[in-house]
Amino acid sequence: MSPKDLPKVELHLHLEGAAPPSFIRGLAAEKKMDISGIFDEKGGYAFKDFWHFLKVYEAATSVLQTPDDYRRLTLAVLEESAASGVIYTEIFISPDFCGGRDLPAWRDHLAAIQDAAAEAERGLGIVMRGIVTPIRHFGPDKAREAAICAAETAGEFIVGLGLGGDEKICKPKDFAWSFDCAREAGLRLTCHAGEWDGPQSVREAVRDLGVERIGHGVRAIEDLALVDELAERGIVLEVCPGSNLALGLYPGWRKHPISELHRRGVKVTVSTDDPPFFHTTMVREYDRLAEAFDWDEGVFEELARTAAEAAFCDAATKANILKRLE
Ligand code: ADE
Ligand code: ZN
Repeated sequence: MSPKDLPKVELHLHLEGAAPPSFIRGLAAEKKMDISGIFDEKGGYAFKDFWHFLKVYEAATSVLQTPDDYRRLTLAVLEESAASGVIYTEIFISPDFCGGRDLPAWRDHLAAIQDAAAEAERGLGIVMRGIVTPIRHFGPDKAREAAICAAETAGEFIVGLGLGGDEKICKPKDFAWSFDCAREAGLRLTCHAGEWDGPQSVREAVRDLGVERIGHGVRAIEDLALVDELAERGIVLEVCPGSNLALGLYPGWRKHPISELHRRGVKVTVSTDDPPFFHTTMVREYDRLAEAFDWDEGVFEELARTAAEAAFCDAATKANILKRLE
């Protein structure tokens, strides 16, 4: 079976980060907003490094304003994922962008996203769940407000709390209140770490926030004792190799640590992070990984099963996804 046809499970995808540039340009035109500075001559997103990427990302996101904007975006994103063979996806949604951390506005935006998810599930068979994701560089106070939005809407659709943004700003423990609030509301927990900061950042996310998954986590490879600990504790890494390469974290696919982490027994999964920004898709990730590490269908089947087992959805949904992977 070719990578395109393998059923896939994606655990790490930012809703706004998955917006195709043509979609964002179209909305900007409708709203008469000038964001032309964020595009290159070919019409793709243009950025120099991770910190510039965050600025371009926020500028693109500024055109997403109404619940209907988010409904349309969600449909576009799920169509793209389904075309790559994704059958289950957990998508990061940030109340900072989506409703401005105002609870009634958040509920309205979320209802529109859920409508789109239900439509995509009926039409394309793709199942979506949401992970509320505060933005680290917006600070702990705003993260609390986002966590309250998460806790108030926790349920079948909103299944987790994450933390994205600039890993160099604040420490995991600064967000402990938000993660405790989410845990008490029954949400499952993940946190970006070990992408722009080293192994200590991963240790602190596990120790101080009690997360069961790590977004990226790849720089754990710089500390083999930590790698062993992640493997022993079954902490799952949401690895996004194409994102890491596009942002210059590693110089080439063969230099990416995913294969070594896998070999050392860490539960790794594969995701795209912000696919149009990084010119990637799940199919491209599979193709490049197969090429770089000589991975066969069996490895990809194992990774998809690992991802399904680590999904934050309810047991019945998970059982269904696991069955579709058989
Ligand atoms: N938000 C969107 N993409 C991100 C990434 N790769 N790291 C941290 N925050 C992000
Ligand atoms: Zn991410």
